[in-house]
Amino acid sequence: MRLKDKVAIVTGGGGGIGRASVERLAREGAKVVIAEYDAETGAAALEAVRQSGGEAIFVPTDVSNETQMQALIDATISAYGRIDILHNNVGGSTLNDGPITTVSNDEFWLKMRVDVFGAWLGCRYAIPHMIAGGGGSIINMTSVNAIIGVKGRNAYAVAKGAIVSLTRALAVQYGEDGIRVNCIAPGRTLTDRVLARQGNRKPTDLKDSSHLLGLITPDEIASTVLYLASEDSSKTTGQMIVVDSGLTIQ
Ligand SMILES: NC(=O)c1ccc[n+]([C@@H]2O[C@H](COP(=O)([O-])OP(=O)(O)OC[C@H]3O[C@@H](n4cnc5c(N)ncnc54)[C@H](O)[C@@H]3O)[C@@H](O)[C@H]2O)c1
Repeated sequence: MRLKDKVAIVTGGGGGIGRASVERLAREGAKVVIAEYDAETGAAALEAVRQSGGEAIFVPTDVSNETQMQALIDATISAYGRIDILHNNVGGSTLNDGPITTVSNDEFWLKMRVDVFGAWLGCRYAIPHMIAGGGGSIINMTSVNAIIGVKGRNAYAVAKGAIVSLTRALAVQYGEDGIRVNCIAPGRTLTDRVLARQGNRKPTDLKDSSHLLGLITPDEIASTVLYLASEDSSKTTGQMIVVDSGLTIQ
């Protein structure tokens, strides 16, 4: 129980890495607030936590909507009275992305609105409560696409680069308040969204020589979320933790 009595918000907690994070943080004793815009998967994540004896609430939320993000923070405070951990998880590349000369500007603004503004709003409204509670841990999601250039993902790369800058800026801004801000840069992680792009191929068929230790599972990213959420990382802030199976060292 590394997070006993802690209160954690996980955005996009209904699916993929967010769902794995919800279940892992709850198993470690955190009271988890599942922020998700899909009512069905949000309710399923809530049910999974309750079935395993954990404590959670589900607050339907679109992270790109400022009013809904304020309501998420208000709901968290009225349910649990504090915020210790914020996992700003929502985001992801889309098949509509592409080279800058042909990708739509709508796709650029979608990535800025969902991946960047969503994380911005989470920080903006959670931080005052973290300060009031004596500190906290914010975990943002970037990607290997912020480190290496990847063809066909120009809009996504810009958004994930901004997340790294946001992380460092806020780590410096709020270090004296006991708030740690870090981000995780996963390589290819086998969420349902990623698997859906692979057609009928099984995960075991998706061998990829650039991922030296194999492709990554959402649970393996949740392990890093737990590390950053817990006191095990008490002197780690402003960092990008790369969990990429060796992709970016080659
Ligand atoms: N899966 C990967 O290979 C990979 C690699 C690098 C980085 N990442 C990053 O990890 C994070 C999670 O990715 P994932 O693959 O688990 O994504 P996912 O698509 O599997 O899950 C995202 C969840 O967020 C929800 N969601 C989407 N938009 C939302 C919104 N506006 N408001 C609230 N909820 C919303 C979805 O319904 C879903 O439950 C993203 O930030 C992504 O960029 C993922």
